[in-house]
Amino acid sequence: MENTGTRVAVVVVAAGSGTRLGAGRPKAFVTLQGRTLLEHSLHAVRGMRHAADPIVVAPADLLQEASELSERVTGRPVTVVAGGDSRQRSVAEGLAVVDPRIDVVLVHDAARALAPASLFDAVVDAVLERGYGVVPGLPVADTVKRVGPDGAVHETVDRSALSAVQTPQAFPREQLLTAYALAKSDETDDAGLVAAAGFRVDVVPGDARAFKVTTPWDLQRAEDLLAGRTVPRIGTGSDTHAVDPGTELWLAGLHWPGEPGLAGHSDGDAVAHAIVDALLSAAGLGDIGGVFGTGDPRFSGAHGDVFLTEARRRVEGAGFRIGNVAVQVIGNRPKLSARRAEAEERLSSILGAPVSLGATTTDGLGFTGRGEGVTAQATALLLS
Ligand code: CTP
Ligand code: MG
Repeated sequence: MENTGTRVAVVVVAAGSGTRLGAGRPKAFVTLQGRTLLEHSLHAVRGMRHAADPIVVAPADLLQEASELSERVTGRPVTVVAGGDSRQRSVAEGLAVVDPRIDVVLVHDAARALAPASLFDAVVDAVLERGYGVVPGLPVADTVKRVGPDGAVHETVDRSALSAVQTPQAFPREQLLTAYALAKSDETDDAGLVAAAGFRVDVVPGDARAFKVTTPWDLQRAEDLLAGRTVPRIGTGSDTHAVDPGTELWLAGLHWPGEPGLAGHSDGDAVAHAIVDALLSAAGLGDIGGVFGTGDPRFSGAHGDVFLTEARRRVEGAGFRIGNVAVQVIGNRPKLSARRAEAEERLSSILGAPVSLGATTTDGLGFTGRGEGVTAQATALLLS
């Protein structure tokens, strides 16, 4: 996420009942490879280049669950409101809480769980360029017939003039609010209302991955796509800092009172930095110096969680989820065993994946053996 100066909100509608899916619970709360459709959708929002505020519209009896899931994905509290008895009413409930300082509003079906972050960014860019709304759409591949109620074919529809539209649909906030204020009919999409209010709306290229999970067959297709994509990737990272007895020790995300500290531009947390490098390397995103800039004043004195949180956001934005991370500390101090569980818990909660921590010494040999420095080596496994 960059601060591109444009303020973007994404209303994720997840309040439908999922009758056609028939999974026994509202569709957005059905899981796909262990994560709900709502979480998959929010992952895409979180991976956007434009910073965007999600607003989740959920069934009234699932507000608590929706908040917890959403916060787990985004790492901060998310506005969650109860939906209405049609998609249009649910969108209206979401729009009612959009901050007036927002420039561009996206409306997204949680059911389009595999829509990639790049599609969200593309519709924002298109609205900024054009000044009016856009919807992603794909050309219709099948021959389309107009048929009577008895099944008789009346005509072949010219498909070159048709587009199968998807979400996220994006609009200047004022235009979308005006359209909803004027809305009379119940439309199944937002572009329909905005066009009915007299604003221009363009179709921009959609993405096949943004298909809507409607039936059990769609859910299976989504499962297969995700499973087929799951090629694990590993990465390694290491970091060394010199012992500096004049500073406080921060290691593995914990403060170690009374232990000699480690020198460094940030807090010298070699464990956190080695993990960041392992994550970035597994995702092919470079390394900590390239991503964070070792001289960047924003990171002067920063604690490990700042780097870990940002590294997690980046690898997830690139379409991965963290499988697990293993780290080994090489050095004489601190003695990790007493606080190993605490450190593992802290690091695991920051990364949303299991982190295991080990330690070893070097039998008095080398700089670690002489107590001059501490090294950490990390391996990360990412799943896509
Ligand atoms: N939606 C909503 N509120 C409603 C109806 C739909 O927020 N009252 C949302 C759904 O959660 C979904 C999107 O709008 O993300 C598209 O709707 P659809 O695919 O029709 O989902 P459902 O209405 O849940 O499914 P069904 O029509 O099969 O019951
Ligand atoms: Mg529906």
